[in-house]
Formats: sequence, C-alpha cells, structure tokens
Amino acid sequence: MKKKVLSMVLAASMVAAALVGCGGGEAAPAATSEPAAEAPAADDAAAPADDAAEAPAADDAAAPAATGKKVGVSMPTKDLQRWNQDGANMQQQLEAAGYEVDLQYASNDEATQVSQIENMINGGCSVLVIAAIEANSLSTVLEGAKSAGIPVIAYDRLIMNTDAINYYATFDNYKVGATQAQYIIDTLDLDNAAGPFNMEVTAGDPGDNNAPFFYNGAMETLQPYIDAGKIVIPSGQVEFATVGTPKWSTETAQSRMENILSSNYADGTKLDICLCSNDSTSLGVQNALAANYTGDYPIVTGQDCDIANVKNMIAGKQSMSVFKDTRTLAAQVVKMVGQILNGEEVEVNDTTTYDNGTGVIPSFLCEPVFADANNYKELLIDSGYYTEADLQ
Ligand code: BGC
Repeated sequence: MKKKVLSMVLAASMVAAALVGCGGGEAAPAATSEPAAEAPAADDAAAPADDAAEAPAADDAAAPAATGKKVGVSMPTKDLQRWNQDGANMQQQLEAAGYEVDLQYASNDEATQVSQIENMINGGCSVLVIAAIEANSLSTVLEGAKSAGIPVIAYDRLIMNTDAINYYATFDNYKVGATQAQYIIDTLDLDNAAGPFNMEVTAGDPGDNNAPFFYNGAMETLQPYIDAGKIVIPSGQVEFATVGTPKWSTETAQSRMENILSSNYADGTKLDICLCSNDSTSLGVQNALAANYTGDYPIVTGQDCDIANVKNMIAGKQSMSVFKDTRTLAAQVVKMVGQILNGEEVEVNDTTTYDNGTGVIPSFLCEPVFADANNYKELLIDSGYYTEADLQ
C-alpha cells in the first residue's frame, strides 16, 4: 500500500522531471543562468519520447560556432555500461552539431587517461570534456590545457585541485543518495514501524568525488532513523572510508559483502536493507546474497539502470535504481560546448555546491529519477532508452 503510494508520487515527479528535463529548476539559480525560454535545447533532448539519434537540441544550440572545431571527450572505461552510453551520446550529439570528435576510453587506468588527454591537447581540440577516473590525477596534464587556452568541462565527475576546470555538468549527486534512502524509509514505513531493521552499506570509489555525495545523501536522510534505533548496522561498518569500493568494482563489493554475511548473518540474523550506491556495486552485493544468504530477501538499492540491473529489478533481485538519462547530460554538455565556443554566457544552475579545492566550479545539475519494476517501462522503454529486447 505504502509502496504503491510512493510509486505514484515518484511516477508523478518522474513525469515532471521529464517535462522540465535537465533544467529541472530546483537548483539554486546561478548568476550566469539564462532564462529557460532561451535554452530549449537540453529540455528538448530530455523529453521522454526523444530518440538519442535525433539530438535536436545540440543542433540548435551549437550550430553557429561548430564547423570544423574538434572536441576531445575522455571517458573512464568501457567496462561499465553507462560510460559506453555517455560516450556514444556525446559523440553522436557533437557530430550532429557539426563538431569533429576525439572520443577516448582509458580502461580505468589513470596514466592512460593522462596520455589520451595530452594527445587531445596536442591534437588541436578546442574544448575538452572529461569524466575522470580519479579526481586528483589530472592536475598536471590540465595545466597544459590551461596554458594552451583550451576550456575544460568536467563531465559527471568533478576534477579536483586544478583551476583548469571551467565548468562541471552532472546529475544532482546528493539527490541520488537521498532518493535511495527515501525508498527505504517509505518501503519499511520507518516513520511508524518500530524496527529495528538491519542494514549494510556499500558505497562508491573514494577516488570519485561523486561517491561521498551519494553516500551523504543517503546516510544523512537515514540518520534520524539510525539515531532512533530503527536502523542498525550489525557489521558496524558505516564510515565512508570503511564502506567504499575502489573503482566501483563488482568483485570487490561482492567479496566484502560475503565477509559481512559470514561474520554477521550466518547464524540466521535477518538482513533487511542493502544500501548500495550504484548498480555495479549492487550487482556484487546481489551475487553475495545469492550464494551466502537464505533469509527473506532484503531491500537492495542501486543507481544507473544498467541493463543487468533492470533485469534484476524485474526478477526481484534489486528493489530500485536511480535513472540518470545520459542523453540529457550529453545534450547539456553539447550546449555548453557551443556556448563556450560562441563566447556566449554558459548556462549553469548551481554555483555553490561543487568546490574542487580551487574554488566553486559553475555547474549544471540534471535531475536523477527514481526507477523500479513498476515504472521502468515508461521510463526506459517508452523513452527509447532501451528496447524490450535489451531487457530479455
Ligand atoms: C557515476 C555513477 C556510476 C559510477 C561508476 C559515478 O561517478 O556518477 O553513475 O555508477 O561512477 O561508474
């Protein structure tokens, strides 16, 4: 009952988010924000029925300055599904806007990413769009970009401790974690239920600046219930430093969870909640549960709506995920690229949250959206993100 109400509320907010698209309008208006009416591009691309291949937004926003310019797009790895989608969307939308694209994947290897970025700088790129593997590893190479006058957009993950970053485009990372926590609160009716419910926490890569935002968004939302004794953590592993998962590895998350299960749940203790920051770590936790836990299946959270995880949501092995439409983020970044190259004011909607150690980086935060087995069709299939066949 409670769950149904939640789904309806979330479905309504999902539709609202889809209508307003990336410029969700919730973030604090920035000094440099343009009126929404002048910035239809990203909104258009975010509309649920749009096919990524159409990319109407980028065309409109970036056309005048595009011809002949090369944009370097540096992605962390092909191993995780989302970055393949991010890279493909960026390439397709940039090319549709008339840019040449140098798209590179760095196999989750920091030195490879540095050398790929060096090549982009030396190869005549006019703008760099970078999703960093490790937040602190790019300062030196980006000094080169700065001296060459090449603007840099941090894509999805903030790049730390360098003043060579001009803009940051991402999803509201804190809200991702808060959405996971709210699902737990609503599903277990924590405002009324006495508990205690047993929870274990699996967070992201300590080298990824997003990971503490996801963790804090979830844990701060759950803290009143932990303080009230309604949620307890039998392993005692709760600090971010303890629950983090280097490189977001499925295998690492799995082996850590196996240890937790054998040390704390082998005697039949019930596990009610597995708070997992994203889908790759969630998969590891689900594998550990499948092999080592026979009690009632817990709530298991995630983020990204990767295909394997959506299949598991349908199969009841993962309770929810958070959908971050990579088409929307790509459209926003393509728009930023055009505004930069045109010498126009660059649209941002947050100028307070993301300090990279050299000052706050003007940011554009897109809206993350709740997903579960009840709304995935509308969210993922009707919007053209996946086909039915993808999820078979
Ligand atoms: C992204 C997540 C992703 C994770 C692992 C984070 O920086 O924001 O969407 O799940 O990296 O790739």
